[in-house]
Amino acid sequence: MRLFIAIELPDGMKTTLSRLRADIPGARWVPVEQIHLTLAFLGEVEELSVERLTVELAQIQIPAFDLSLSGTGCFPNPGRPRVLWVGVESKRHLLHLGNRVHDAVLACGIPQEERPFSPHITLARLNSSPSRELQVFLEQKKAVKLSPFSVREFILFQSRLSHNGAVHIPIRSFRLATGGASSEC
Ligand code: 2AM
Repeated sequence: MRLFIAIELPDGMKTTLSRLRADIPGARWVPVEQIHLTLAFLGEVEELSVERLTVELAQIQIPAFDLSLSGTGCFPNPGRPRVLWVGVESKRHLLHLGNRVHDAVLACGIPQEERPFSPHITLARLNSSPSRELQVFLEQKKAVKLSPFSVREFILFQSRLSHNGAVHIPIRSFRLATGGASSEC
């Protein structure tokens, strides 16, 4: 199964993020219910490894923390925009969680990108050259700052591909600040 690990955002935050949408040529906006913060993308994982993975992830014991979103940008860069994102402010706790998740995934023998974790929330995927509209969006939204929200858990998701796009199915959630106890989704 195709897996990733992410932080689910409060519904209100997803709505706020979806309201940032603008008319940008070639932009495929992430459906509002699917907006999330990816901690790790695992790709195809054998079902046998999933049990081990949940055991490793449940051992992550770090306290819940607050997260603030601010600013926008493009990956890999505004000259070759492929992903349009909202950034994360004061990332210390989030980077710590990302590192722990990365280590847990590696401990299960699941390969991970060497690139350092670069926290962001994807708003849209882009498949055309930089446009005037994109430039205006980045200029207008560069100072966007959203109210903080609490991160109390992270979730192991299955991403099932279909001709209508990917469907994200929560498999298990892992609570923070409660000794890493996990619950079936
Ligand atoms: P991103 O949107 O935060 O960049 C689920 O597919 C998530 O895994 C995506 O939202 C994406 O995170 C991340 N991901 C990273 N590498 C990926 C890849 N090669 N294919 C699909 N998703 C990937």
